[in-house]
Amino acid sequence: AKGDDWLGDQFFQYQGFWLPSIFVKGSMLIHQRFKPRPTDIILSSSPKCGTTWLRALIFAIINRNSYDFDENHPLLKSNPRDLVPFLEGLIHEGGSASFLESLPSPRFLSSHLPFSLFPNSMTSSSSASACRFVYISRNPKDVFVSMWHFMNKLRAREGLPPLSLDDAFDLFRNGVSLYGPFWDHVLGFWKASLESPNKVLFLKYEDVKREPSVHVRKLAEFLDLPFSAEEENGGIVEKIVKLCSFENLSNLDVNKIVKEEKTRRHFVSNPDFFRKGQVGDWINHLTPEMVEVLDQITKEKFQGIGLKFD
Ligand code: A3P
Repeated sequence: AKGDDWLGDQFFQYQGFWLPSIFVKGSMLIHQRFKPRPTDIILSSSPKCGTTWLRALIFAIINRNSYDFDENHPLLKSNPRDLVPFLEGLIHEGGSASFLESLPSPRFLSSHLPFSLFPNSMTSSSSASACRFVYISRNPKDVFVSMWHFMNKLRAREGLPPLSLDDAFDLFRNGVSLYGPFWDHVLGFWKASLESPNKVLFLKYEDVKREPSVHVRKLAEFLDLPFSAEEENGGIVEKIVKLCSFENLSNLDVNKIVKEEKTRRHFVSNPDFFRKGQVGDWINHLTPEMVEVLDQITKEKFQGIGLKFD
């Protein structure tokens, strides 16, 4: 199905989820061609849940012995999305399956695909090549507000008029959003994390924001890369938290300057991935009716499964 949407007819519904048309081919090719390895680490998320932040945190954890925490650290020179291959986006960006195969293990990749759209070989706990997934989720009200701002930036660059908050809200509540329905996306990974906690780590943006150090340690342990006593004494956790903080990353030149990237992601630019970086900005945008609608959907969808957002 094709729908009138956030970017003017550029979303396609595929197996129950709304994918941006530029990533449909890549999403299907993952099913057909991607050869998973048991050492693969996949950062998964619904867009606007904190993907950029988690890309940075995991990159910093995995590569902590390859780079010093000084001015030459790659995270100070590149946007995190340029350091972590984006699975379904690769095809669109001129990449190929052979590029993925050329990467040394362990591979750190990211994707917005819902859990059900990954091949069984990656997700089934009985598969010899089952991957590890880190999923970052966020409260639906902040996701909606973040997405509305983000999409209007893209629309402006495409020469489209801004989408009103009301129109965007109608799309979002009906499940039409980037890789939506949002709630189904979250549910897929939540259930998988309950079934296979050693394969799927489910995180919430609000929790990571409240206790970043706790979550950096949790990530390192989940990835079988726990910090040694020596590293802890050297303050490595604090260094990683600081390096990847919103304040630090959003103020870097590489993340402040809008570059025209016509040949690659034609309308997305590094600054688009940094806005406020706060919990609860929905209060400045949503009407009481909108809040009630989103709270009600969230309650119905997540009822009885132990999932709550602050
Ligand atoms: P807001 O629009 O609410 O500010 P994604 O990376 O999944 O697209 O999510 C983008 C959201 O994460 C934006 O939220 C952005 O500001 C926020 N963000 C980006 N980098 C961050 C960081 N280092 N720490 C916390 N939040 C961050």
